[in-house]
Amino acid sequence: MEELDLVVRNAHVVTAADEFDCDIGIRDGVIVSLARGLPAGRKEIDAAGRYVMPGGIDGHCHLDQPMTDGTKMADDFHSGTVSAACGGTTTVVPFACQLKGQSLRAAVEDYHRRAEGKAVIDYAFHLIVSDPTPDVLQRELPELIAEGYTSFKIYMTYDDLKLNDRQILETLAVARREGALVMIHAENTDCIAWLTEQLLAAGHTAPRFHAASRPMLVEREATHRAISLSELVDVPILIVHVSGKEAVEQIRWAQGRGLQVYGETCPQYLFLTSEHLDGDDFHGAKCVCSPPPRDKANQQVIWDGLENGVFQVFSSDHAPFRFDDPQGKKAAGENASFDQIPNGIPGLETRLALLFSEGVLTGRIEPQSFVALTSTNVAKLYGLYPRKGSIAVGADADLVIWDTDVNLTIRNEQLHHNVDYTPYEGMKLRAWPGMTISRGEVVWSAPHAQVQPGRGKFLPCAKPTPARPRSERRLSIGGATQG
Ligand code: URP
Ligand code: ZN
Ligand code: ZN
Repeated sequence: MEELDLVVRNAHVVTAADEFDCDIGIRDGVIVSLARGLPAGRKEIDAAGRYVMPGGIDGHCHLDQPMTDGTKMADDFHSGTVSAACGGTTTVVPFACQLKGQSLRAAVEDYHRRAEGKAVIDYAFHLIVSDPTPDVLQRELPELIAEGYTSFKIYMTYDDLKLNDRQILETLAVARREGALVMIHAENTDCIAWLTEQLLAAGHTAPRFHAASRPMLVEREATHRAISLSELVDVPILIVHVSGKEAVEQIRWAQGRGLQVYGETCPQYLFLTSEHLDGDDFHGAKCVCSPPPRDKANQQVIWDGLENGVFQVFSSDHAPFRFDDPQGKKAAGENASFDQIPNGIPGLETRLALLFSEGVLTGRIEPQSFVALTSTNVAKLYGLYPRKGSIAVGADADLVIWDTDVNLTIRNEQLHHNVDYTPYEGMKLRAWPGMTISRGEVVWSAPHAQVQPGRGKFLPCAKPTPARPRSERRLSIGGATQG
């Protein structure tokens, strides 16, 4: 047998389906053998006593996304992917965002230019469709789906991105015809606008009123409407960044009726509450994101949803804006009203460790479910499986080797993103990725990143073929799609 480039020895492997002990043999960036007692490789890593899992796939993060309001995202494809790698993520799927009036093709070409030469781990693109003209729907979108951009996000809020119900129906119909997956940001835009006006008129301008302007009802109504529109068209959808009980109830209701409605949630809905928007001196702006974090009771419902199968994916929704920066949270000034604060918080690097430490090590989430939520299901939903999202012969050697005996306090200065804060500052964790391996190369060996800008490859996505979601503990999103 030809010599192996790397052997990860004595691994306690966890996949979404199995848990077993073996050596992992890697050649040319691909897993070529899983067995005990493999012959020596050119390089050896001893993983004795440690969990070895498929590298994380962050299926919802925003990197260097062009903005229209004078703000600028703090992370580009270099800092963002370094940060991801240091947190155990080996694939990211950010968004090529169509600006109104722009062609989708131009948005994709621009986004490739932003990624090239910078990414240190592999990446695919979702599209954001904000201007579904006849040409976009009839020609551009089908062409791009066929070329490997098989998922796209649509918004029910934000003036520069939102679609009305008719536009949503027409866009969903293209997804059905072409076999794409639609991610939906579900918040009722008119309710938000009306509430915002009332709050501002009453002088309620502080960051904490962001939460009051986007209450649970606003998300519940839009979630229900998104489900209804997708039922009418008969097409699967993913409701992204679900924040609490009333939206969970809608998704569970849809899943119970056999509809292909998938759910995504994020760390901010497990670890933050609306009280984090209360900070003095505008510090509450650091946690302004949409939907906003809710309360403890809603956090519990989100934890329950991760355990009982309402959610298929757990993503960061990393949307990085610096706090002390005129292009960041203070773009409209130090005392800007809540509606002028850019929405979004960082979380690419902390996503996996937060869920592992507080979910797996506390016994709330089984290790296999953790892998499904953070990697395997993401690969399946977005047509990257089985090349990504598994530890199997023939899969890319994207691995994370966990340190689970750590006593760590999250400090922003130790993170690798380009944001000047983390919402999780001071949180204590018991786990962190000790090593991240991307296509057989060590890119993070705590405490050092070992990355080469531009080594990350673009991944065209196959059409997803997800099976119906089932409310089970260990949910599998069905059939393999080509990688
Ligand atoms: O507040 C958020 N979530 N900002 C990022 C953009 C989005 O809607 O996901
Ligand atoms: Zn969104
Ligand atoms: Zn987002």
